[in-house]
Amino acid sequence: MSLRIVDEGLPAGQSAPAERPRGRLPAYSLRVSVLEQCQLDCRYCRPGSTTTPTEKARWLAPNEHGRLARILVGRGVRKVRFTGGEPTLRPELPALVKAWGDVATDMSVTVGLALTTNGLRLAPMLPALRDAGLQGVTLHLDSLRADRIASMMGDGADVDRALAAVVAARDLGLDVKWNAVVQRGKNDDELGAMLQRAQDLGVELRFIEQMNTGSAQRYVQDTFISGRAIVAAIAADTAVQAVPRRQPSDPASLYRTGAGVVFGVIASDTEPFCEACDRLRLSADGRVRGCLYQPGGLPLGAALRAGADDDGLLALLDCALADKQSHHPLVPRARTPFSMADVGG
Ligand code: GTP
Ligand code: 5AD
Repeated sequence: MSLRIVDEGLPAGQSAPAERPRGRLPAYSLRVSVLEQCQLDCRYCRPGSTTTPTEKARWLAPNEHGRLARILVGRGVRKVRFTGGEPTLRPELPALVKAWGDVATDMSVTVGLALTTNGLRLAPMLPALRDAGLQGVTLHLDSLRADRIASMMGDGADVDRALAAVVAARDLGLDVKWNAVVQRGKNDDELGAMLQRAQDLGVELRFIEQMNTGSAQRYVQDTFISGRAIVAAIAADTAVQAVPRRQPSDPASLYRTGAGVVFGVIASDTEPFCEACDRLRLSADGRVRGCLYQPGGLPLGAALRAGADDDGLLALLDCALADKQSHHPLVPRARTPFSMADVGG
């Protein structure tokens, strides 16, 4: 049975996100989920998900990625972020990265290739990923404390291993970022320590407000802290100054501390960025969506496997591009609860 959530009204003081005008964009940022499985179990993520992971046989293979890459890069994809679940659980990840890199090279187009990971299995894969053309890694780690990390992220979470992978990625010359989802009463006493560690590591830290995807609703409600409150908590200890986003479509608002450390805050629910959103998503089995919160998606992968030619695939993709609209929780619309892991965080 699939649950439906209908958001009927807006919380006091919030207005629905402004929609960007419909129509094709000159460039897109694509999140490619390569599988939905993850070895961890972050408390705000998977529990309560009602979707079933795609079977392995339906995951797109590197040559299938290559074909879709040609179509998607042809329609303006200029940034690709590989996600999961946990993408490093797929041994052929370097081949998938290479498939996209090769297409970009063939088409003489610059496409940024990055990965979001929990870092646990990253280190041994790094040389192959770098050789495949990967340029950036974002680590997801919610605490620096060995005594609390497992209760927050699940058994197997390991602060030292994750940070060692980040150092290895940085030392290989990759552009490294660090994401931490802030949870009241769980890690909100670590914001200063995380900023200090990010500065020591030379990586950019982004604090993430929990998103109400519909799974883990109770946990998210009980531990929610808004982006604004995150900034206020940091400002209680040090001067904090807002600095401009690098790109209007970046999810993170940027700030600089009195010590000169730049950090980001991603407040997707309380400060939606739908108007400037240039994201597309490709699921492990090749469904394209224009919004994280959009159910379903157009089955580009299934069409490819059914023998569609490039014109057929382009026609299907163009439907998805024309239909890119916000399904944000503040827009009153029926939604199905899902976990970020299912959709590719
Ligand atoms: P780059 O732009 O390549 O740096 O990546 P990113 O910052 O988008 O990627 P990352 O994987 O670090 O995602 C950061 C956070 O943005 C996630 O944890 C989510 O909270 C949020 N997020 C990711 N995708 C979406 C989306 O499609 N819509 C909204 N509203 N939020 C998203
Ligand atoms: N709210 C905010 N961020 C989330 N992520 C997963 N679930 C949620 C949620 N409910 C994050 C992961 C990772 C990124 C890809 O998505 O922690 O940093």
